Amino acid sequence: MQQDALKRAAAQEAAKLVPDGAIIGVGTGSTVNFFIDELKRLKHRLEGAVASSVATEQRLKEAGLRVVDLNSVDELPLYVDGADEVTRHLTMIKGGGGALTREKIVAAVAKKFVCIADKSKLVDVLGKFPLPLEVIPMARSFVARQLARLGGIPQLRQGFVTDNGNVILDVRGLTILDPPALESELNQIPGVVTNGIFARRPADLLLLATEQGVQHMGA
Ligand code: A5P
Repeated sequence: MQQDALKRAAAQEAAKLVPDGAIIGVGTGSTVNFFIDELKRLKHRLEGAVASSVATEQRLKEAGLRVVDLNSVDELPLYVDGADEVTRHLTMIKGGGGALTREKIVAAVAKKFVCIADKSKLVDVLGKFPLPLEVIPMARSFVARQLARLGGIPQLRQGFVTDNGNVILDVRGLTILDPPALESELNQIPGVVTNGIFARRPADLLLLATEQGVQHMGA
């Protein structure tokens, strides 16, 4: 099966979990775009959605959905998002699209985080995908030096500015054997807004699309 067909299958499975009358969180990326297609069909029974990026906000609006400010909700029953890498423990690397900070915020507010992915995203150990860090522009060089000390090879994502006006450093070469520990350590570097390890708040459920069907992992 083509990768897009798998992404769509995962998105369709996630759509079955959308509660009636709810405001839900919506992630960012090509897999989530298939989920937004499904939400378009469900919009009559959805109160609204909190977007994790400007791109998702635009797409939700185009689909005719009401976009809600996160500050006006106390809790979201559900957050659906993709991942760049995901393990069987439901820890992830995210931020390939540069939306990691808002994604982490919306995930923190959500009661249930459902990760949707095709089988190519499943890994035993995180780190083959370059780890994105959102960094305050003036701290870029300092943060890069600190990352090099940790054994990483940081590279500035050229020509890219996040929705929050910051830059992204993509870091290769990090050994991520203890994802929660590294997530915390990297966030302690002054100038780092957040990093793309999602381990302190992992997903609650992974919907992994394979040719044999969509596997539910971790529920
Ligand atoms: C966006 O910043 C990312 O965290 C995405 O969730 C991740 O890159 C997955 O995107 P795809 O679904 O396009 O692979």
